[in-house]
Amino acid sequence: MGIDQRRWRWWNAVVFIVMVRGTVTVAGSDSHEKHEQVVSRIAFGSCSNQSAPQPIWDAVVDFRPQIFIWLGDNIYGDFKRPFKVFGRERTIGPWKNVPRFVPSSEQEMRAKYEKAKSSPGYARLHQNAKVIGTWDDHDYGLNDAGKEFQGKITNQKLLLDFLDEPQDSPRRKQAGVYASYTYGPVGRDIKIVLLDTRYHRDPVGSDGTILGNSQWLWLEKELKGQPTALTIIGSSIQVISNLSATIHPLFAMESWGRFPKERDRLFKLIADSKRAGVFFISGDVHFGEITRYDCAVGYPLYDVTSSGVTQSVEEVVPPFLRSFVRFVAWLTPSTMRVKGQNCRYKSCIYGQPNFGTIEIDWDSHPVTLKFKVRDKESITVTGVNVSLKELQSSNSETFNRVKAGQDNEKHCTLEVSLPWFVRYRLAILFCCTLIVFLVAFLVLVYSCFRLFRLEGCKRKHD
Ligand SMILES: *[C@@H]1O[C@H](CO)[C@@H](O)[C@H](O)[C@H]1NC(C)=O
Ligand SMILES: *[C@@H]1O[C@H](CO)[C@@H](O)[C@H](O)[C@H]1NC(C)=O
Ligand SMILES: *[C@@H]1O[C@H](CO)[C@@H](O)[C@H](O)[C@H]1NC(C)=O
Repeated sequence: MGIDQRRWRWWNAVVFIVMVRGTVTVAGSDSHEKHEQVVSRIAFGSCSNQSAPQPIWDAVVDFRPQIFIWLGDNIYGDFKRPFKVFGRERTIGPWKNVPRFVPSSEQEMRAKYEKAKSSPGYARLHQNAKVIGTWDDHDYGLNDAGKEFQGKITNQKLLLDFLDEPQDSPRRKQAGVYASYTYGPVGRDIKIVLLDTRYHRDPVGSDGTILGNSQWLWLEKELKGQPTALTIIGSSIQVISNLSATIHPLFAMESWGRFPKERDRLFKLIADSKRAGVFFISGDVHFGEITRYDCAVGYPLYDVTSSGVTQSVEEVVPPFLRSFVRFVAWLTPSTMRVKGQNCRYKSCIYGQPNFGTIEIDWDSHPVTLKFKVRDKESITVTGVNVSLKELQSSNSETFNRVKAGQDNEKHCTLEVSLPWFVRYRLAILFCCTLIVFLVAFLVLVYSCFRLFRLEGCKRKHD
C-alpha cells in the first residue's frame, strides 16, 4: 500500500509537470513575455531527488499555485561522485538516473497523464500553473561547480528540455539559463528574474564573479527597465544569509556572501535602479528559513529560502539525532534570520522537506505579501507578513513604524562583524566537547596505567 501511495504521489508530481507543459509552450518564455492574469499565488522549491518519494507534491498542488518556480537541484544528475553522502546512483553514468530528462520516457509520461485525466486527482491538478526555473549545482552537473565545468553546454539543453523551453527560445542560444518573466496587468505586475549562479561563476574563494559580464548587463537592463509592482529575484544560492561566516571552520556553504564584491554589486544595482518591491527567493541549503537585510538598499531586502523538496538536513541523520540538529541550528548565530511567532522550531530554521509560497493580497490597502515556508502537510513552519509599502525606499520613520511589532530587531549587522565568541560559538563548543572527551580519555588511560602498575607492585611485594 505504501508503495502504491508513493507511486501515486510521484505521479502527482509528474502529472503536475506534464500538465503545465501545454500552457508554458503556448505562453512562451522569452524575456518580454506579458501574461495579463493577476498572479497572487506562487510556490517554489528546490533540491528534489528524483529517485526518492516526493510526498510534498500533494501539498504543493493543494496550494493551487499559479506559478511554480524551480530554484535548482530540480533533479540530481551529477556527472561524478564527489562524496559518498549522496549515494551510489550518481556513478551510474551521466543523466542515466534522470528519467525526466530522458526523451524516451516522455511517451510513457504522456500516457500516464492521459490516464490521470480520468482519475479523481485530475480535477485538483487541472489549473493553469506555469512552471519556470533555474538550476543549481546538481542539475548543472557537478557538486559546487562553476564556469569550469565541461558539461555545461549539454546540460543547459537538458535543463531547458526539462523546463519545456520552446525550441526557438533565445534562452537556448545564450550562455547560461538566466531568464525573466512578467506576469499580470500594470499596477499588479510581477517580474520574476531567474539568475544563473553556475555557468559563469568563478571559483569559490576568488571573490570573482558569480553572474559573469553578459548576465550582469542583462540583469542591469532588466532591473532598470519598466518598473513592476513586485520583482522576485530567484537565485539558487542564498543571497542574504552568510552561514559560512558562523559555521566556519567546521563547514562552508555556497552563497552570495562568499563573493562579497559581487554581492555588493547586486545590492548597488538594486539601489541604483530605484526599483521598489524587490525580494529574493533561494534554495540549495537543505532547510527553509527567511532572512532580511535592512541596510543594503533603502528598504529591507528579504530572502525566502526553501530547500528541499526531498533533501533536508534532518533526513540525513538518524532520527535520534534530529533534536541535536535542531539544537545546533538554534545555536548557530544569525543576524539576518527573521524570527516570527509562527516558527515550528525555536531556531526558525526548518530542516525537513519543505516548499515556499508567496501570497499576494492585491485588494488590501496597502497590498500585503505573505512569505511562507511550508511542510509537507502545507503547514507554515516559518512565515512573515510584509506590506508592499515596506518594500520601497521611504523615510526611515515609516520604515520603523511598519516594522514595529513584527520583528523588532534591525537586521544590519553582517555575520562577520559579530564578536568572535558569538560568531565562532559553534566551533568553540565543538572544540570544547572534543577537548573534554580527549581529557576524559587521557584520564582513563592514565588511571588504567596506574592501576596496572599498582597491581604489579603489589604482586611483586607479595
Ligand atoms: C535519492 O533517493 C534514492 C532512493 O531513496 C537514494 O538511494 C539516493 O541515495 C538518493 N540520492 C541523493 C542524491 O540523495
Ligand atoms: C561571508 O563569510 C565569509 C566566510 O567567513 C567571508 O569571507 C565573507 O567576507 C562574508 N561575506 C560577507 C558579505 O560578510
Ligand atoms: C499574517 O497575517 C495573518 C492574517 O492575514 C495572520 O493570521 C498571521 O498570523 C500573520 N503572520 C505573521 C507571521 O505575522
